Amino acid sequence: MENMIDLSIIILAAGKGSRMKSVLPKVMHPLAGRPMIGWLLECAEALEPAQIIVVAGPDMKELEEVCVSHTVAIQQQQNGTADAVKAALPLLKNETGNVLILLGDEPFVSIETLLGMINAPVPTIMAFRAEDPSGFGRLIQRADHTLQEIVEDKDANEQQRLITLCNAGNFCLPLKRLQDWLPKITNENAQGEYYLTDLPKIAAQDHVFFEIVEVEADHGWGINDRMQLAAHEAFVQNALRGAALEAGVTLIDPYTTYFSWDTEIGRDVTIEPNVFFGPGVKVGDGTTIKMSTRIEGAHIGKNCEIGPFAHINYPKKPSIIGDDVVIGNFVEVKRSVLKDGVKAKHHAYIADAEIGKKSNIACGAITVNYDGYQKHKTIIGENVMVGSNVSLIAPITVGDGAFIAAGSTISDNIPDNALAIERTKPELREGWASAYRNRKKKV
Ligand code: UD1
Ligand code: MG
Repeated sequence: MENMIDLSIIILAAGKGSRMKSVLPKVMHPLAGRPMIGWLLECAEALEPAQIIVVAGPDMKELEEVCVSHTVAIQQQQNGTADAVKAALPLLKNETGNVLILLGDEPFVSIETLLGMINAPVPTIMAFRAEDPSGFGRLIQRADHTLQEIVEDKDANEQQRLITLCNAGNFCLPLKRLQDWLPKITNENAQGEYYLTDLPKIAAQDHVFFEIVEVEADHGWGINDRMQLAAHEAFVQNALRGAALEAGVTLIDPYTTYFSWDTEIGRDVTIEPNVFFGPGVKVGDGTTIKMSTRIEGAHIGKNCEIGPFAHINYPKKPSIIGDDVVIGNFVEVKRSVLKDGVKAKHHAYIADAEIGKKSNIACGAITVNYDGYQKHKTIIGENVMVGSNVSLIAPITVGDGAFIAAGSTISDNIPDNALAIERTKPELREGWASAYRNRKKKV
């Protein structure tokens, strides 16, 4: 996209989000595993403006971290959306050009719509039709369909409340105009706040009328509470499912597959019902993810079988899974490397491990990776057979081709091609059980 040196973007994100009832700033709540502000920033960055200013509240460190590559303005007191824009103005690098103002709680605006707004010859505002418009600002139109004014829900009279054309909250206008009009906004309204939505009324006094750019509701409504957060999650999940199907992935029951914003799935992958992807997952071509599996932090190769009921977790250090690997039911894998052809088919715990090609981890085998203070590594060579119910006490290295007998608890390294066995000698007393029963009967 062309670099837009005449464009500045201001994103309003300082609101406390009190309707979310959360300690987390509203715009940091995740949608498909990514903070909602992240979705909006991606869209804003794609426009390549001269500058993006995010207006944050004074105690929003997590938000500032997400916005490090942009300018952060601090709005000391949350006195309304116009007051938030005021906090951004002194930090603007541009002295002319257009300003695009976006609401941080509205993550799914479309780039095409924003381009339309930016390239329009007059100031523009984004709007949508709501089946239930309650809570939103209502647009009062002029005969030529331009905007006369916006009336906030709490200030609207009964007739105005019937209007279904709602304010999406995003504006685009020349900086010079914004600098003229913003100081004229007062807080004489139901909420005692400085409403940015007073701009069109003030512009009208100068005979400037905003053009209304109408969008589908899904791209124009904001997130104020957990119901709206859940509705946006449903929207983005459906979009991600659609994209996966389009890209050649089979979803047996699409509505039960949950993707993360960054999930990458290859071709001819089949995903059975009830599968959840957290962040940091790539799945290679031809792999099957069987039902009720949860995966985050995993780069999975080609033609693998994962699940049913498998759990791969730890996004900060993804597990690297080679080709033709089988991770079966009730197997947990974290921070590990499993080379091509490794099989762990049932009930195993593989953590902080490296497992060489074609090794087999039998039912109930575990890496004992934690000593109560630190995590330790288990290194297993190629073609190793780790028997059922083996405990490998890390740190430990197992050489290529070694066999570890079922039930063994092993704490020493094992050389290549050796057998390691740790078992107490079984005691067999013939006839003991019948004698015992007879003794009991006499009592
Ligand atoms: C706002 C609009 C409303 C519109 C709706 C669409 C105003 C006055 N109202 O209402 O017309 O229909 O969005 O979703 O603009 N913020 C600050 N500082 C503040 C207050 C808010 O930065 O002092 C930020 C918030 O973090 C949020 C955005 O501005 O990201 C919008 O604020 P919010 O309180 O959600 O406004 P709505 O009530 O949704
Ligand atoms: Mg809102």
